[in-house]
Amino acid sequence: MQERLGRFFWADPRAILRADASPEEFRRAMSAIEVGGTYKITGANRHPGADELMLANLDLADAVIVDIGASDGSTSLDLISKLGGFKQYIIADKYLRVFARENGRKTYFYDDDGNWILVVGSRVLAWPATSGFIRALFGRGARTAAHRVAPREVLLLNPAVQQRMAADPRVTARVHDVFLPWEGQAPDVIKVANLLRRLYFPDADIVRALEVLLGNLPDGGHLVIVDNPRIDGMPPRCGLYRRDGGRFVVVAESENVPEISTLVTGVDLGDRTDAQRSSDA
Ligand SMILES: C[S@@+](CC[C@H](N)C(=O)[O-])C[C@H]1O[C@@H](n2cnc3c(N)ncnc32)[C@H](O)[C@@H]1O
Repeated sequence: MQERLGRFFWADPRAILRADASPEEFRRAMSAIEVGGTYKITGANRHPGADELMLANLDLADAVIVDIGASDGSTSLDLISKLGGFKQYIIADKYLRVFARENGRKTYFYDDDGNWILVVGSRVLAWPATSGFIRALFGRGARTAAHRVAPREVLLLNPAVQQRMAADPRVTARVHDVFLPWEGQAPDVIKVANLLRRLYFPDADIVRALEVLLGNLPDGGHLVIVDNPRIDGMPPRCGLYRRDGGRFVVVAESENVPEISTLVTGVDLGDRTDAQRSSDA
């Protein structure tokens, strides 16, 4: 059953509480963490095609690369390990920590705003957002834990990523929302993998995010879009796009184009982004 219906099986998310969790255990635990309507699902070597596209078309030796919606940073680390050189690699995600509280034999997880997002026990793994029944059944335990038990903060970065960050000052992580302008040094390349998906956001929101991403890049800067489709036999879809004034132009795409390809190339801000920049300055 697990082979055929793999995505309905979850590894124990409590692995993220263990100091000795292996990178793979930590990664697998991410699949069960849902915050703000998106899952933190990730994996090792999850988008080799996109990495290839970047390496084949861009000189990244002096690049500032920002990876938005990077989850625990596993796929960032995959790309970093293939880069000959780079200036900075920033692993960015809106949700980089959760809080855990143990109450009896169950562990309750909460997001940054204190919302209860998950309950885990030896025979239970349930998300309150998915059902009123779950909220009714475990809500009291979650509220009691929230009042009585001190929370444990858990950084949602893979142990291997944390190790790399400690050893390499070029690699950092920060909280960032894809819908908001990037603060600080403008990136040369922005990668967004499995975040701007139709399963998470309506097209209007995806376009809004794409407009913000365009404005974050200098003219000539690049955007990489990846999605891992749940379609039998279809490999990850990816595209590399260059900012050309107020638009994105296609540099290269995989044989199956990303599901939001036409939304990316449909963005047209004219000279609005530059006008915004000079008015900001
Ligand atoms: C399905 S995971 C993709 C992880 C990784 N990029 C990959 O392809 O394996 C989506 C990630 O986007 C993050 N996310 C959700 N909403 C976001 C937002 N508004 N801004 C930035 N990141 C967000 C989630 O926390 C999650 O880590």
